[in-house]
Amino acid sequence: MFDLTGRSALITGAGQGVGAGIARALADLGASVAINDLREERAAETVAAIEAAGGKAVTAAFDVCDYEATVAGIARAEATLGPLDILVNNAGVPPDMGVTQFRDTKPADWRPFIDLNTYGVMNCVHAVVDGMCNRGKGRIITISSGAGTVGIPLGISAYGAGKGGGIAFMRHLAMEVAKTGVTANTIAIGLIDNHSEPEITAHMAKTVPVGALGQPEDIAALVVYLASDEAKWMTGQTLQLNGGNVTT
Ligand SMILES: NC(=O)c1ccc[n+]([C@@H]2O[C@H](COP(=O)([O-])OP(=O)(O)OC[C@H]3O[C@@H](n4cnc5c(N)ncnc54)[C@H](O)[C@@H]3O)[C@@H](O)[C@H]2O)c1
Repeated sequence: MFDLTGRSALITGAGQGVGAGIARALADLGASVAINDLREERAAETVAAIEAAGGKAVTAAFDVCDYEATVAGIARAEATLGPLDILVNNAGVPPDMGVTQFRDTKPADWRPFIDLNTYGVMNCVHAVVDGMCNRGKGRIITISSGAGTVGIPLGISAYGAGKGGGIAFMRHLAMEVAKTGVTANTIAIGLIDNHSEPEITAHMAKTVPVGALGQPEDIAALVVYLASDEAKWMTGQTLQLNGGNVTT
């Protein structure tokens, strides 16, 4: 049903995990994809996998927390692929992410989470949204977390704050651009299989009503819909995709 032939997309943090799965799915449906990651070698691996499957992909390594680098990196991607039709803000896990109860943190510990999950989203959107509005079409999709909408006692409050900021920003953005042909939606995802030890995976899966962790392709399927022409009436939403955990 969905065809993205002729579309160009940039996916942040797509060197591995959920972002790589999203990039593969968009490319499978015909989109040309720019693979962003902080680590160029990871981006290159995703590009190689997509090219091996017959898709078109280029690397776009930059730090989404750095506004100037983001503007320059997106300009380079657009010079190769043409103006971006689709932006997927997926990068959201800072390097060396740890868990610490808030009362044991220092202010400097909070910044990477806010920088990446709020400012990182705003930086990328700012670099593309004017062009999308002027062209009268665009799809902006942010990958967030249940942690952005509910409290969890595991020591990830700064991460949750950053995700919550991104969610609120996307809602306002969607309303500002609603009449231009540009949509903006967030997917708040639950626990994803990141190939931990089998016992850890099994333990985590027990907390999910369907009894299994999510796979990148579970997230990619909803991204494909949101990126499609068919989703023109879907905007301003925060969609929970988590195997059945009720988080609203
Ligand atoms: N994995 C889960 O269980 C889970 C649960 C809820 C939400 N999420 C969200 O899903 C998204 C993807 O998660 P994942 O588990 O696939 O992450 P991951 O850590 O496996 O991969 C993320 C990639 O982003 C890159 N990255 C980090 N900081 C960056 C920056 N500043 N600029 C550009 N790239 C950067 C990393 O190098 C890495 O390759 C994130 O937004 C995360 O918060 C994940």
